Amino acid sequence: MKISLISTSHQKKSESSRVRNIFEEQIIKQKKDLNIFNLDFSEEDFYFWYSDNKNSICKEKWQKISEELKTSQGFVFVVPEYGGMATPIAKNFFLICNKGELAHKPGLIVSISSGNGGAYPVSELRSSSYKNTHIMWIPEQIIIRNVEQFQPGKHGLLIPAWMDKRIHYTLDLLIAYAECMKPLSKLINRKDFGNGM
Ligand SMILES: Cc1cc2nc3c(=O)[nH]c(=O)nc-3n(C[C@H](O)[C@H](O)[C@H](O)COP(=O)(O)O)c2cc1C
Repeated sequence: MKISLISTSHQKKSESSRVRNIFEEQIIKQKKDLNIFNLDFSEEDFYFWYSDNKNSICKEKWQKISEELKTSQGFVFVVPEYGGMATPIAKNFFLICNKGELAHKPGLIVSISSGNGGAYPVSELRSSSYKNTHIMWIPEQIIIRNVEQFQPGKHGLLIPAWMDKRIHYTLDLLIAYAECMKPLSKLINRKDFGNGM
């Protein structure tokens, strides 16, 4: 089984990348035979494009990514809060995933903030990202506030003591959803019903 872990910061050396790496280590500890696809938008240079035919470098790059996503059974999506919103690249991602890459597969939202934020990206993604991608956000989410203090095993004082157990539980859930939802792929009819209402 393959899980894609996606970091949607616009910044180099971002907290989202750091958190993404920690989640990768953790999920592999919990399920040793997992394949991982790592997508970190701060390392990519194709922000804000959409049309298939405008930029062939982007197109080629995206086709490879798209294949990796298509063959993934679940997604961890790390999104920082910028201006009380999900990041522009996070929203852009859902526009370019238009070939059923995420369809009817479980996704876990991991929202991060350097302060007390982090709720807005969750509510934004839950309300607006699924219509055409058909991603299925699982009912659990993780919000990491004071993210600079997040360091499993030696968290700073502002990270709740229960955080690591909550992450462990939520990743187990994601894996279980990914396994249970595999048969859904047989029902997907993107030819007639590619976009939601
Ligand atoms: C442009 C910008 C806007 C931000 N706006 C918010 C905000 O509205 N709420 C919040 O809690 N944090 C905000 N932050 C702080 C980020 O959540 C924090 O710096 C986070 O670690 C950034 O993640 P990144 O390093 O993965 O990009 C903002 C940061 C940036 C760069």
